[in-house]
Amino acid sequence: MFNAEKFIETTVADLKKTLQGKTLIAFSGGVDSTVCAALVNKAIGKQLIAIHVDTGYMRKDESAFVVKTMKAMGLNYRFVDASEEYYRALSDVEDPEKKRKIIGEKFIHIFERVAKEEHVTYLVQGTIAPDWIESGGALRDTIKSHHNVGGLPEIMHLTLVEPLRDLYKDEVRKVARILNVPVAERQPFPGPGLAIRIIGAATKERTEIVREACDIVEKEIEAAVEQKLMEMPWQYFAVLIPIKTVGVHGDKRAYGYTIAVRSVQSIDAMTAAYSDIPHEVLDRISRKITNTMGAKVNRIVYDITNKPPGTVEWE
Ligand code: XMP
Repeated sequence: MFNAEKFIETTVADLKKTLQGKTLIAFSGGVDSTVCAALVNKAIGKQLIAIHVDTGYMRKDESAFVVKTMKAMGLNYRFVDASEEYYRALSDVEDPEKKRKIIGEKFIHIFERVAKEEHVTYLVQGTIAPDWIESGGALRDTIKSHHNVGGLPEIMHLTLVEPLRDLYKDEVRKVARILNVPVAERQPFPGPGLAIRIIGAATKERTEIVREACDIVEKEIEAAVEQKLMEMPWQYFAVLIPIKTVGVHGDKRAYGYTIAVRSVQSIDAMTAAYSDIPHEVLDRISRKITNTMGAKVNRIVYDITNKPPGTVEWE
């Protein structure tokens, strides 16, 4: 049985011993990296610098929220807006594994750049067990390269430290609650962000569409949970399928993308079941997306696939 108090005590003691110098933490603002930052902060305080990179694939208003969180936690931090750089690098890359590798490599290059400026020795990442298991760790098949595993370059100038490596999400949440981490109950958001919620090339144009669609799905589902129309899913979001279909807007022909709505229940992300969204909520989501997006999106579909065989994210 996982004992979160004991985990915190031994991890902080280990980190005090391991981290003998300035340390950078990759701070996405998700549960894993926030918990990690809280642990490292306990261990080495001001020797820690949190770095948040806006890749351009963040959810609506997410980076501003992350900066607020870093401030509220009293962390030393750096914020890097690399969105245009990411869009340029990914605008014509179709293959999901290539996309993941490029995103991971770019993260590391940015971290290394900042590390050099700040004379940093260690890089802390909030990698958890499913990240490396699904990335082909321990003789397993690679399901997908999680950005913080598969993207690491062969020669890295920073020493990598991953305090949550053996934990599953539900265990990380237990640690988060004890540490009073403000994001403990938020849904997971993958490091590669919206780039893996766009099938194929993650262009700026497509990203802006899926960002808006994700925001609508999140708000409508959260409102429905509030009204007790449904249970809170483990994860709920939109995916852009770059298949255009014919539609009609007013009396004009339109030719727009397809958006899929994904909502799942899970305990540890290793398996998941698609979860029920009541028809009236689906209807609201569909109308809102098509009304907001004009002719850019013509069609909304609902993903009813479990994991396995479908992974939670589409890429
Ligand atoms: P999949 O799609 O593998 O997702 O069924 C399982 C859980 O992991 C999240 N996910 C990621 N998280 N980096 C992350 O930090 C990644 O590269 C990544 N890929 C998937 C996904 O959102 C789900 O919660």
